[in-house]
Amino acid sequence: TKKKLLLLPGDGIGPEVMAEVERVLAWLNQSGRAQFEYETDLVGGCAYDAHGEAISDAAMDKAHAADAVILGAVGGPKWANVPYAKRPEAGLLRLRKDMKLFANLRPAICYPALTEASSLKREVVEGLDLMIVRELTGGVYFGEPKEIVTLESGERRAVDSQLYYEHEIDRIARVAFELARARGKRLASVEKHNVMRTGVLWKSVVTRVHEDYKDIELTHVLADNCAMQLVKWPKQFDTIVTDNLFGDVLSDLAAMSTGSLGMLPSASLGAKDANGRRPALYEPVHGSAPDIAGKGIANPIATIGSLGMALRYSFDLGKEADLVDAAIAGVLAKGLRTPDIMQDGMTKVGTVEMGEAIVGELKRL
Ligand code: NAI
Ligand code: MG
Repeated sequence: TKKKLLLLPGDGIGPEVMAEVERVLAWLNQSGRAQFEYETDLVGGCAYDAHGEAISDAAMDKAHAADAVILGAVGGPKWANVPYAKRPEAGLLRLRKDMKLFANLRPAICYPALTEASSLKREVVEGLDLMIVRELTGGVYFGEPKEIVTLESGERRAVDSQLYYEHEIDRIARVAFELARARGKRLASVEKHNVMRTGVLWKSVVTRVHEDYKDIELTHVLADNCAMQLVKWPKQFDTIVTDNLFGDVLSDLAAMSTGSLGMLPSASLGAKDANGRRPALYEPVHGSAPDIAGKGIANPIATIGSLGMALRYSFDLGKEADLVDAAIAGVLAKGLRTPDIMQDGMTKVGTVEMGEAIVGELKRL
């Protein structure tokens, strides 16, 4: 059966990097390794220009019908003054909300050829392969009350509320344990039970879920200590599961120790339905990079890596996902670099050349 993808290139460099994803998809189809059917639609500023909304209902219908969605990036200075509800990011938020995506997967890996470019010491990052699972729909970003109140004294007081339900912790823990099982069989659960009630509940629910995953080694790590450990010796971790706020910070921290924004893929997953189908959105961590848009120099690796994650997590094509990762590692080992990851003595290439080289590597592997 054909596998259905929706591609949402978006704004800025989004369409440039998505074209390289299409190049990889064409190779997958031509090589007979998989049969993908894909269509494209608008999201972000370009959708606002076309329909007056950051994503149309028709595009949302396509997103629900697809087995997975791959998104480029949204936003840019052109839309700085559009109404808040129609701003480019609203398209991304609607996708996440309507698809009920609650698990954000952020890998941090270190490509051997880029070890020297890391901000950390070689021995600290060499061979690093870490997965951070961030809860995406609960916690302090969404909890009520959430307000700024002016008191009688004239002073203002702001409040955000960290709030978690047991079922929210349970389902993210299960995603993380499943991932850990397919990886290094070790899971670190990160919270602050020493000072937060949500941390106490988090720790107890994850401990209970562990009963169903006895083959996985579970540790509990306080979030501040986790930040230190991630800089000191990130290889001590295999899979990390944490809440929305800590996950936001720790995933950026972990990912950047290994490379550039142009290299970082991500996945956002929802709950499996009765047929085992899981809503999923794959996207690079970076934005629309208006400063380099249209120049043909954007790094397509983050978005191609996001396709790789789709192969692995939505289509059970682990072998093909490994090939994509190996092809990326291969072109880097050959010295090809887009300007954002350029190093002395390497060969500077543009977006298209990088995409072509990755497909060339795929054909060779
Ligand atoms: P950005 O990630 O777009 O760019 C930050 C810096 O990294 C820029 O110097 C850019 O040139 C560089 N960069 C990013 N991706 C790159 C790539 N693939 N290859 C080479 N260089 C790359 O973040 P910024 O500048 O804060 O935001 C720009 C626009 O993107 C804004 O409108 C923002 O709202 C939007 N944005 C969208 C996101 C999304 O669609 N998920 C996420 C973050 C920002
Ligand atoms: Mg962030």
